[in-house]
Amino acid sequence: MLKKMRKRRRQLTSIALATGIALSGLSFQTGVFAAEQGAPKTEQINQNEVPQLVDKASIDAVIAAMTVEEKAKLVVGVGMPGMTIPKLPVQGAVGGTPAIERLGIPAMYYADGPAGLRISPTRPGESKTYYTTAFPIATSLASTWDTNVVNKVGQAQGNEVKEYGVDVLLAPALNLHRNILTGRNFEYFSEDPLISGKMTAALVNGVQSNGVGATIKHYAANNQETNRFTIDTIVSERALRELYLKGFEIAVKESHPKAVMSSYNLLNGTPASQNSELLTTVLRGDWGYDGYVMTDWFAGTDPVAQMRAGNDQIMPGFPQSSERIANAVKDGSLDEKLLDRNVKNILNFVVESPSFKNYNHSDNPDLQAHAAVARQAAADGMVLLKNDQKALPLKKENKVALFGTAQIETVKGGTGSGDVNAAYTVSIIDGLKHAGYSLHEDLVNQYSNYISVLRQMEQYKIKPSPWGEDFGKEIPVIPEMVLDTNQIKTIEDESDIGVIVIGRNSGEGVDRQNVKGDYLLTDTEKAMIQNVSKAYHDAGKKVAVVLNIGGPVEIASWRDQVDSILLAWQPGQEAGDAVADVLTGAVNPSGKLATTFPVKYEDVPSSENFPGTPAENPTQVVYEEDIYVGYRYYSTFDVKPAYEFGYGLSYTNFDYSNIRVNQGGKFKDQITVFANIKNIGKVSGKEAVQAYVSAPDGKLEKPEIELKAFGKTKELKPNQTELLKFELNAKDLASFDEEKNQWIVEKGVYTVKVGASSENIKGTATFKVDKDIIVEEVSNSLVPEVEIDRLTKK
Ligand code: BGC
Repeated sequence: MLKKMRKRRRQLTSIALATGIALSGLSFQTGVFAAEQGAPKTEQINQNEVPQLVDKASIDAVIAAMTVEEKAKLVVGVGMPGMTIPKLPVQGAVGGTPAIERLGIPAMYYADGPAGLRISPTRPGESKTYYTTAFPIATSLASTWDTNVVNKVGQAQGNEVKEYGVDVLLAPALNLHRNILTGRNFEYFSEDPLISGKMTAALVNGVQSNGVGATIKHYAANNQETNRFTIDTIVSERALRELYLKGFEIAVKESHPKAVMSSYNLLNGTPASQNSELLTTVLRGDWGYDGYVMTDWFAGTDPVAQMRAGNDQIMPGFPQSSERIANAVKDGSLDEKLLDRNVKNILNFVVESPSFKNYNHSDNPDLQAHAAVARQAAADGMVLLKNDQKALPLKKENKVALFGTAQIETVKGGTGSGDVNAAYTVSIIDGLKHAGYSLHEDLVNQYSNYISVLRQMEQYKIKPSPWGEDFGKEIPVIPEMVLDTNQIKTIEDESDIGVIVIGRNSGEGVDRQNVKGDYLLTDTEKAMIQNVSKAYHDAGKKVAVVLNIGGPVEIASWRDQVDSILLAWQPGQEAGDAVADVLTGAVNPSGKLATTFPVKYEDVPSSENFPGTPAENPTQVVYEEDIYVGYRYYSTFDVKPAYEFGYGLSYTNFDYSNIRVNQGGKFKDQITVFANIKNIGKVSGKEAVQAYVSAPDGKLEKPEIELKAFGKTKELKPNQTELLKFELNAKDLASFDEEKNQWIVEKGVYTVKVGASSENIKGTATFKVDKDIIVEEVSNSLVPEVEIDRLTKK
């Protein structure tokens, strides 16, 4: 972590230097600094005639009355506690917009993040606490395949945003899981853009139903932490449009997020926050976006270029940035009309914000109700990877022996800005106890003593995050406790089932690694799995593994040794209770993977070019795998994953029947796919159903399958059937022809494959497209200047 902090500071310094600003000499402003920042310097204003911001209709008059300095002030944010800046009124908020009182423009406040609102839980001199709810990580939410559940999470998150006096949530984040080792993947949903886009839209709609803003981030192609401020991401237009931009396009069109956060990385040579093709031509031109764009924190190198590009606000901003912008207007190098455009985009949201409406926030959201939402979402996102001979659910009378330190130090979520200062995390021990299970108490005590001894040692002490207390805690990884085989034998004798918990964490600023203790299990973890399995199996008893992780780990080498594997993800603060819900069968698992678990890291299509070149200190990353990300690659190139995209078991079974399309299999501009799903097992359950399409190769080659629609049944009782319908329109089916800048449905026979996973296809139906359909022509943007050696099946 310390390393991480140094890295972040170094990155900040280099950005600051590139911007011509010395970090040491900063004097920051707060959101309530309007008055001090003072009167306009260059124009005399008659106070009696000053228009006031009262509603949307007043915005143009207010802009007309603003001085250049005031405009330049508004487009540069405020905030970033933990450096030399005084704290914002909402402590732990990371920024906001400045007030300009003369014109009736109030300050607004922004706070992270994807797993829930991140603010300071305490304030000096106050006994009141400001805890927020830690929801499951985004990867877990995506695994629900249930936009209703995700929408409820959004509603609850947005309520906390509003009730704690924040205007804009800096979430959700929807970068693709291009590579399984990206340190912030836990904050992102999936390797697939449709899931990412739909989940984002559901979340944004939930958050914004409270009258606060959501920010979709990080736009775009911000798929690694290594050198995140400076890496130049080289990617083809087709891969961009079909994958890396697609989720953003869906979210923009289906949920109208109030804000978009541009990313740190360069995209095809230009910093994202200075990239007018990305921020204006595509986002606003091609997609019709009408909210505002803010930078990621300290992103970019040139505030004037950011303004020109349509990056409406620089976060958290340096006063020097305002000066440079104002000077650029005065010397003619920045057209004032562009600045006005940016100001207007920001004010459009200011007039809708709780701060503008003087919303009297309670500082007292219903945390208990939100905990229930978090618990349901967490359980619904868990994926049962293996369950031989129905080892799970646990039987009521089972005495459970819990192995692994993560039974106590259960990981609720990842670290960095995506962390959440929740009041508690329910451990797996407590979850099982709450569910009425008896545990092997000696073993619990042994783990508990082991952890407390280690945590007193300097190297394992839990400390506040070096990024500041608002960023949660720094929890050094402690080694797994070594158990000898005799001891395991005794524990086995005294219990009915062994449950082994494997935990992992990762976070902002650092990518994960293909090493033991991270992607790979350590020798001690492997020995624990092996020895516990042997002892229990010799006695005819079962062993289950619970994976408390934020992204894939290697499973293939040890999975045969155990009976069951439950992928619990990082389930948020209700972790233990949600794990117990699924282990005990109170909730029938219905989550499925929205990201592939490969057999080995080397199978990942981007493993050879992640995190870029030169290897010692990457400056450029070329997306050579092109459109073949995740299952698009595994299915097309016949690489067998450990657990494929879409995979997940249940305690019941489902039958799929009557899979068909309408219109006699002729596609004009729309077609509907139908499937009957019947619960043919003995317990109630929900099924996530996936509709993939195999499109014909034409001028454009196509991946073997692409997810085109998905849905989840309601909770079906045994023998109950539900008919699911999926509507596919031309845009859903289209591929991107980068020569013509067109979305096109090429003629030929299309096969719809309805399945329980990307490999477990239950039925197919075909339809015909008689002639090429040009769905949409868009701008010629974001063309890479570097030659890309693209993966192709030809
Ligand atoms: C992260 C953003 C976050 C911001 C404010 C940045 O480092 O990349 O996701 O919203 O900090 O905390």
